Amino acid sequence: MKILVATEKPFAPVAVDGIRQVIEEGGHELVLLERGTHDDLVAAVSDVAGLIVRSDKVDKEVFDAAPQLKVVVRAGAGYDNIDLAEATAHGVCVMNTPGQNANAVAELVMGMLVTLIRNRYNGTSGTELLGKSLGIHAYGAVGRNVARIAKGFGMKVSALDPFVADDVMIADGIKPVHSVEELYSQNQYVSLHIPANDQTRRSVTRALIESMPKKGVLINAARKEVIDEEGLAQALASREDLRYVADVKPDNFAELEEKFGERVLFTPKKMGAQTAEANINAGLAAAHQVVAHLLDGWNKFQVNR
Ligand code: 3PG
Repeated sequence: MKILVATEKPFAPVAVDGIRQVIEEGGHELVLLERGTHDDLVAAVSDVAGLIVRSDKVDKEVFDAAPQLKVVVRAGAGYDNIDLAEATAHGVCVMNTPGQNANAVAELVMGMLVTLIRNRYNGTSGTELLGKSLGIHAYGAVGRNVARIAKGFGMKVSALDPFVADDVMIADGIKPVHSVEELYSQNQYVSLHIPANDQTRRSVTRALIESMPKKGVLINAARKEVIDEEGLAQALASREDLRYVADVKPDNFAELEEKFGERVLFTPKKMGAQTAEANINAGLAAAHQVVAHLLDGWNKFQVNR
């Protein structure tokens, strides 16, 4: 059967080689579509049984064009790019690959934070992370990796996650907190790791951002949709000490860069998971999952049950 790997942002070549090997050893054929448009994706799915994507949009148009499609694996964590209701309506299993790219995202979070607080290495004196407070908004795979690295910097780490028991955080040396108000008002640095869904969209409000302590920095390597963008702009305008770092730049990024200059820092494209290691981990996991599903319906990480 044909398995399409469609990545607008391509995997490292070494990861593609590994994916090809897993697919061929499973008795299937790899079809590769890199840097394609949505129209290219729609055209490419007509005869495939499996589909591997990253943040590529998989919507009704794609499912309608793919009569043989049985499984879609998002090589990564967030699956807000996939229309789950349409997948279910078309009888397609959707899975993600939890945790496989988490360390890469976490390392980028800390790297961007250091870049910001060292004033982009422009020759002036910056500040240090040792002894400073970091609040982690959602203690999933990425949040846990951020906590591990932040503890190495000597930071005081707290986390908010209603789905994680306090004793799990305490065992990791993390202080559990139980409200967003507490998380934002008590930590100079806050790193966002919530998914984008109906509960979280625009949930990081002006009031929360303005409640951050002096010289607060909000870091977003999650999704741009979780921030109230106008509220963010208002908070940055009303509090000259606040700063914002994002691997997922907001729609109003040009306005923010113009108004707030070096107080904001954005990657040109989402780069958190873009390491050879994360590409290999997530890409190979995705390939194994597609092959296993086509073999016997394996669906351990199904997200549209
Ligand atoms: C994820 O949800 O796994 C990350 O946001 C990485 O996304 P990407 O595969 O598009 O880089």
